[in-house]
Amino acid sequence: MAGTPSPLPRWAPTPSPSRPLWRPWGGGTPDANNHHQPGGRGGGTGSTSWWSLASGVFAWGGRGRHRGTASSNEAAAAGDDRACGVVPGRSGCELQAVVVPSSAADADDPRAFLTWEDVGVTVAGGGPRGAPDVRILDGISGHARPGEVLAIMGPSGGGKTTLLDTLAGRLGPGMNKTGLILINGRLEKLAYGTSAYVTQDNMLMSTLSVREAVYYSAQLQLPDTMPLPEKRAHAERVIREMGLADAMDTRIGGRITKGISGGQRKRVSICIEMLTRPRLLFLDEPTSGLDSAASYHVMSHIARVAARDGMTVVAAVHQPSGDVFELFHGLCLLAAGRTVFFGTISDATEFFTLNGFPCRHLRSPSDHFLRTINKDFDEETVESSKTKRKTAAEAIDILATAYRSSDYFEKTTDQIIEMKNMDGASFRRREQASFATKLLVLTRRSFLNMHRDIGYYWMRLAIYMGIGICLGTIFYQVGYSYSSIQSRCSIIMYTVALLTFMAIGGFPSFVEDVKVLIRKERLSGHYGVSEFVISNTLSATPYLSVIAVLPGAMLYYLSGLTKGVDHFIYFVMVVCICCLLVESMMMVIAAIVPDFLMGIIVGAGVQGVMMLNGGFFRLPNELPKPVWKYPSYYISFHKYAVQGLYKNEFMGLSFPSDQLVESNVTISGIQVLKDKLQVEMGYSKWVNLAILCGMMVIYRMMFFAIVKITEEIRQKMGGKRGCVR
Ligand SMILES: Nc1ncnc2c1ncn2[C@@H]1O[C@H](COP(=O)(O)OP(=O)(O)O)[C@@H](O)[C@H]1O
Ligand SMILES: [Mg+2]
Repeated sequence: MAGTPSPLPRWAPTPSPSRPLWRPWGGGTPDANNHHQPGGRGGGTGSTSWWSLASGVFAWGGRGRHRGTASSNEAAAAGDDRACGVVPGRSGCELQAVVVPSSAADADDPRAFLTWEDVGVTVAGGGPRGAPDVRILDGISGHARPGEVLAIMGPSGGGKTTLLDTLAGRLGPGMNKTGLILINGRLEKLAYGTSAYVTQDNMLMSTLSVREAVYYSAQLQLPDTMPLPEKRAHAERVIREMGLADAMDTRIGGRITKGISGGQRKRVSICIEMLTRPRLLFLDEPTSGLDSAASYHVMSHIARVAARDGMTVVAAVHQPSGDVFELFHGLCLLAAGRTVFFGTISDATEFFTLNGFPCRHLRSPSDHFLRTINKDFDEETVESSKTKRKTAAEAIDILATAYRSSDYFEKTTDQIIEMKNMDGASFRRREQASFATKLLVLTRRSFLNMHRDIGYYWMRLAIYMGIGICLGTIFYQVGYSYSSIQSRCSIIMYTVALLTFMAIGGFPSFVEDVKVLIRKERLSGHYGVSEFVISNTLSATPYLSVIAVLPGAMLYYLSGLTKGVDHFIYFVMVVCICCLLVESMMMVIAAIVPDFLMGIIVGAGVQGVMMLNGGFFRLPNELPKPVWKYPSYYISFHKYAVQGLYKNEFMGLSFPSDQLVESNVTISGIQVLKDKLQVEMGYSKWVNLAILCGMMVIYRMMFFAIVKITEEIRQKMGGKRGCVR
């Protein structure tokens, strides 16, 4: 679905000469610097002069704006909406000559002029085989420029999200794109920190508070050269700017507990993406779920930052209030995947009037546009209308056709051509936190999340304790009789199978983590898969150790398994590694299967099969050779775990033989292992443990490889297709 961000990267951060994120890093946060330096972005002196020139060049004509001048920046910093908002009474847009940026500062951190031409998106038909492709976008052209907010508007299902996904290089699998998308006239593979995308679904860690979520993100995204207190201050400032001061310490909530509201979640997502002040910001319905006042404040803040920092903003907006609508510099109206209009807001009103759809007095233009082109309720309109009014489908046809042959279309085309001739400097990778910092922050965040989410480990610990007591009391002091051999084997198998099987209980929580990783933070380049894998291992190990030690001790000593602390330690180590191993296996499943219910079913199925051919239910030599013995028996981790624990248990013990068959004979533990249990005795129990560790590492590497390969395939598919990534 277009609305769902794909698990694939928008861009792959490429190593390149880095520069400090905020220059010069004079002890102040970027905003602080800007407030004190009205004309410049974080101290870039040359940028102002170029910016005033370029913004003059690219201003949507006649709007009377003077963005980029010292005075407008002062006004913007002081919160004057007129500095970035709309001045009423503007006329149509006029294109002026394009000036190529030349100053050193801009060469270092160029602004983004984004153009797209004749963009089409199709998706394979969902019907029977051979069904034609469904066209979602059809020949869309437009542009967005620095310091301005372009609104993509249209009825629900019109293709707004698809267009944003296309521009941001995040189209889902199975969707094919045509057309050309350029930044500053180039096919640009954007480096880290240059662009950000706030998607419709807010993927946030539900256990964190607003402050923690933004602060952790700041620690991940901002460079190590920025002192921690400043990162914290910057995070808090961004939160306040989004009107979230009161919700600062409220948990985000979601799966289990109710937390902040939908509108607040959206604002947290915006905060996180705006931390680094990207050059290009895509917003999908930033105002949905907000009341009109909040929408206005959020959008005016974004517009202000855009004007101040020369950020290019493209926002898909559903139903803007009049005030919000006034803030937009440009408008792209989409309906049924076609461009109904692209240009300035005043031009749009004029265009609708000229083509027979005038806006009624006192009706908001945005309402008028959307009502005219929403064809979802055409049937109802036709039935209820006494007069022979045009249906929205007819209106879309008329307007889309009229637009293609209008002056507005020509203007847009001319502007695109001018922008394509831009030849600014390449975007450089912004400096980010170091690998070690990211690892530390992620481990801390993940540890906190595991602690707060009772579904992750605490519930499991409680159940395991209960099971430990049940098992320990049912097999209370098994003793050393012949039948105790069977009992010992049962305890071992049950422990290995059940404790690991229940790892799927924590799967929903884990999938949430993976979603945040794969669908959001990884795509945004905040950190890599390796950091995630290592930090997850580090943060999970203490919990899994507790889970293995406490219930393990109870059942071990209650049931009277072989004596000796060293034997107990081995027992606990195997159980702990098995839990880590199964979690790693579930990681692989989470990377392949997108949904947690499906993941649980697949995980349970895979473990069920492994359990069956682990050598307990059917002795190893009796397993059918094809498939079950080779290779399944050797792949099953149960084999190595159970056999290791068997060795730990039986070596050194002796039992009276089966008195019914032969009396007064004892059998050694080794005989039990070799003959009765058919354990592979060529190697020690420590080798079993090492194999389990190796399997755990292999599964984690598989997860890493799957995410990487998926990314690679996606990039190859995207290839040099001229999309922003
Ligand atoms: N993967 C897909 N397969 C089939 N149809 C899709 C897919 N993604 C989006 N669409 C369709 O494309 C149209 C535009 O979707 P979208 O861009 O999400 O609309 P908007 O954001 O304007 O509400 C919708 O009719 C939607 O059903
Ligand atoms: Mg949408």
